[in-house]
Amino acid sequence: MSLVLGVGLRSGTSYAELHDLVATVLRDQSDAIQLVVTVDGKQREPALRQLVNELDAELRTFSKDELAAQPVPSPSEQVEQLTGTASVAEAAVLAAGAQLLLGKHRTSNATAALGRPTAAPYPAGVSAVVRAAGYGVGEREAVYRVIAERRDVRRGFLDEPVDDLTLGRVLEAAHRAPSVGLSQPWDFLVIRDVATRRKVHELATAQRDAFAASLPEDRRAAFDGLKIEAILDAPLNIAVTCDPGRGGRHVLGRHADPRTTMFSAAIAIQNLWLAARTEGLGVGWVSFFEPGEVAAVLDLPRHIELIGYLCVGYVDEFAPAPELVRSGWAKRRPLSWAVHHEEWGRRNTSIVGDAEQAARNVVPAAGQCVRVVVGGDAAHLDDAEALVVDLGTDRPADDFGVLWRAARTPAEAVEFGVEIARDLALQGVGQLVVQVVEDSERAEALARGLQVGASACGLTHSSA
Ligand SMILES: Cc1cc2nc3c(=O)[nH]c(=O)nc-3n(C[C@H](O)[C@H](O)[C@H](O)COP(=O)(O)O)c2cc1C
Repeated sequence: MSLVLGVGLRSGTSYAELHDLVATVLRDQSDAIQLVVTVDGKQREPALRQLVNELDAELRTFSKDELAAQPVPSPSEQVEQLTGTASVAEAAVLAAGAQLLLGKHRTSNATAALGRPTAAPYPAGVSAVVRAAGYGVGEREAVYRVIAERRDVRRGFLDEPVDDLTLGRVLEAAHRAPSVGLSQPWDFLVIRDVATRRKVHELATAQRDAFAASLPEDRRAAFDGLKIEAILDAPLNIAVTCDPGRGGRHVLGRHADPRTTMFSAAIAIQNLWLAARTEGLGVGWVSFFEPGEVAAVLDLPRHIELIGYLCVGYVDEFAPAPELVRSGWAKRRPLSWAVHHEEWGRRNTSIVGDAEQAARNVVPAAGQCVRVVVGGDAAHLDDAEALVVDLGTDRPADDFGVLWRAARTPAEAVEFGVEIARDLALQGVGQLVVQVVEDSERAEALARGLQVGASACGLTHSSA
């Protein structure tokens, strides 16, 4: 079951002090912290940011007025004078809709309190009669737990068959997925035959080699250590397919966006993945294929599209974090970067401000060098280290080496630059060389953003 941590801290509190305080609060707890809550403004404190990262938790803030409205057990006049609310840590837990489990603990510069999530209160004006019930706490926890503990598994498959009853439950879960117009466009081809799997394995190996050859040298060395499939290690493979025409001409909801039929099949895979996790079955998704080649090996009808190729079986463990994170290949993107309110770019956090703040305490990153060509086009992709940012108004032809960022204003261009640098850092980049080839305000602004983002993530930054 997950916990909510309320934190109050003075500006400049050290990470060591905060870490020790939280360790004290968590001493008798076996559950993980899912949410860290504090007062508006403190989300920029480096110690708090580091803590949130270490805990792999979500960070939420409330205004001092929202905190002041909470009925806390131990209000403090002194805190009220300093912050405008009589409590931060305890009030933050309550404001997040959690029940206090452990009241305020303090060090000289910080306070922490612990809570457990409860059901969300009814908003004003909504009565219990009209609101459908959610699940009880334990059941909710089980759902969130399987979501958090689902892993893509490529190692540690056991030589143990998957019985038909278990497989049936997992496929039933997949088959319950939502689908556009209830068209249920998926099929599941279960493959145990080793000869077939060998042929599919050959295709994946060829694509692996091709991908490795496309990488800059240091990235290739890192990739060599990664396992990307378990086609022959797992006892069974499942090819999940989509029939884009399933349901005929008038499938409700598909007419304006035919992609929805593929989305439906992909969601079925997620259902399968989650159900498998609850059964103790590992699933690894392999996409190192040209889908038509797999379709040929599997002798699929021409109208059937391959959506996902899964390796399934019992495994010796489920790793606590994605393999790509543990190997240092990539990092997870914080939720606060991904959530916008009412309009694009309006986040709970200012990404430029955050980046400037982060730059003050940053640890230098090591990793791949990328030459970012601002305002260029695909013709600039002369080496594997180049990445083009195309600022034009027309969508360029698809190419993974070209980022299309038609910034509407210079301010947006700065944000795009910050984001590009931060996203590259998540993908193991350590060094940016920025080459501006377009003479425009937006190109300059984007280059400025790249510099801010690079400093925030400890990337070495230079201009070409
Ligand atoms: C569409 C899709 C394709 C994927 N293809 C591969 C693949 O070819 N090889 C691989 O090792 N992992 C593949 N993965 C797994 C991702 O690397 C993995 O989901 C990600 O690193 C996060 O880890 P987690 O699933 O354990 O949380 C794929 C995942 C998805 C959703």
